[in-house]
Amino acid sequence: MLKELVLKTRTYRRFYGTEQISDETLRSLVDLARLTASSKNAQALRFKLVGKKDECAKLFPLVHWAGFLPEWGGPKGDEKPSAYILILADTSIQKDTKIDDGIAAQTIMLGATELGLGGCMMGAIERKQILELFSLDESRYTVELVLALGKPKEIVKIVSVGNDGSTKYFRDESQTHFVPKRDLKDIII
Ligand SMILES: Cc1cc2nc3c(=O)[nH]c(=O)nc-3n(C[C@H](O)[C@H](O)[C@H](O)COP(=O)(O)O)c2cc1C
Repeated sequence: MLKELVLKTRTYRRFYGTEQISDETLRSLVDLARLTASSKNAQALRFKLVGKKDECAKLFPLVHWAGFLPEWGGPKGDEKPSAYILILADTSIQKDTKIDDGIAAQTIMLGATELGLGGCMMGAIERKQILELFSLDESRYTVELVLALGKPKEIVKIVSVGNDGSTKYFRDESQTHFVPKRDLKDIII
């Protein structure tokens, strides 16, 4: 059961963008993150919900898609995400929240999968401009990750890492997206 959820929780970058995600749904996803482990139980993470169309449109140019697919410029038209969750650190509580960031992000993505949603954790983002866009105090908050969310509109398949050892994701001519994962025997030492 959990393995099925983990398998389904792939990175998706094209969506049925006309399918809205309610504020209540976004709040329910953050509520999952609220309950997860936290270093020193400091709970320094804060979350900004971005679900309104105009806000999504302003945020979109500040995130960067699929560095290994430079010929693809990211989702277009109505294939863009329907919502985003910004993961912020309140640095007045804790400065380095990297591990908490990952736990919160994956928990939210697992929760999204359970609801038939999916998305992309994004670290290639314009942090300063995102803080400015949402009038967030840059002396207090850092933007850790952006989670782009929507109803996935693409097929993503896991494959084994090939003989060339490359872990770069790739797509075929039908735009099926392949993600090489290392075999279990190669990661247990
Ligand atoms: C911390 C982190 C940051 C990421 N940043 C980006 C990003 O900025 N843009 C993007 O398109 N994908 C980003 N990704 C998605 C990864 O490319 C993706 O997880 C990887 O290709 C493996 O695919 P999978 O999530 O389906 O296993 C990020 C993933 C993580 C964990």
